[in-house]
Amino acid sequence: MELSAPRRPTHIFDEGKFETNLAELKQFKESCGLKILLALKGYNPLHSADLVGQYLDGVAASSLNEARSCAEHYQGEIHTYCPAYDEDTFDELMSYSSHVVFNSHQDLARFADRVPANVKIDIRLNLQHQDMETEVFAGYNPNKPHSRFGITIAEFKPEDIKRYNVSGIHFHALCSQGAADLKSCVATLENKFPELLNQVDRINMGGGHMVCREGYDYQTLAEVVGHLQANYSLDVYIEPSEHVYADVGVLKARVLSLINNEVPIAILNVSAKNHMPDILESPDYNVDIAEGQLGRNEEKHSYIFGGNTCLTGDVIGEYHLEQPLQLDDCITFLDQSPYTLVQCHHFNGVSQPDFIVVDKHGEIKRHRLDDYDRYLTTVIR
Ligand SMILES: Cc1ncc(COP(=O)(O)O)c(C=O)c1O
Repeated sequence: MELSAPRRPTHIFDEGKFETNLAELKQFKESCGLKILLALKGYNPLHSADLVGQYLDGVAASSLNEARSCAEHYQGEIHTYCPAYDEDTFDELMSYSSHVVFNSHQDLARFADRVPANVKIDIRLNLQHQDMETEVFAGYNPNKPHSRFGITIAEFKPEDIKRYNVSGIHFHALCSQGAADLKSCVATLENKFPELLNQVDRINMGGGHMVCREGYDYQTLAEVVGHLQANYSLDVYIEPSEHVYADVGVLKARVLSLINNEVPIAILNVSAKNHMPDILESPDYNVDIAEGQLGRNEEKHSYIFGGNTCLTGDVIGEYHLEQPLQLDDCITFLDQSPYTLVQCHHFNGVSQPDFIVVDKHGEIKRHRLDDYDRYLTTVIR
């Protein structure tokens, strides 16, 4: 198996780097008493579930399927949050969970008496906290006006806290942001819900933290955690997903065709639509490619990279390369584990990436091919 330039679209997951990131988080959390859960929504690393258990406090699930995989494969706490619960599956969902987060007072009132005694209850708050950074990622901003996520101050019913045994609060208000942004969210929380902080035992500050990235300000995160512990005696959690996978996975593509339509265009065997959907969902989303061929800002050999599908908008972006491209050249897209594989599909019947997990010794631990049988599972016969 040629890992450096595979012929088929291939995702390579570097388990050694994943473990390094987990170890960094463990060291930090132990230094300040923070609890860290891995949110599985960005990527569910079932092939490395034992590692997650060794380093973190548990996992966060956002559906029945994720929660079941948590209960079957992961260690530690399982915090489940869905924007709305389905009465047909709620009891099964609870059988997998250690904590449940309600998005509204309506769901709390409907389901609280079906929560087993061993499952702790949180409510999700919507802080309506606006800042410059989240404006950039408007589609991902959970605080957007009219967002469906969490209870706003106008909807908040303090009497429900005791009535329904709520012992924790949850907010998820960041999107790829630093600890200073978190600090300002906590100030908003204290300003809007001052009494609530003294009535609960724990706070979960969601995901969106750029942990494991160079320059992340752990010192400020530790100060926020210390402040919540000292002033309100809270157990403090975060549940990041995306940045726990910082530099863990690459997507390898191959140049299938080189054409011109006023500008040079390379058609690849990977696609924005099928394999990197965030490119189409967010105008500000960029995918970098590995050094050697590139420099996104160098005005050398420019190409538009497009996918091998019928969708006109299936464009990965414009890239500037050191050398002119040749057929069969390999392009390595960086940082491709979170929010890619979980959203891959077989649009146009295009193959999903093959998937390879390389362990810390450089050995191939898993190799899953995407074949015709996998494609057939997506069509109705
Ligand atoms: C409730 C909740 N928790 C955690 C996360 C993980 O966020 P991220 O992947 O940005 O760290 C998300 C992302 O949408 C979320 O909605």
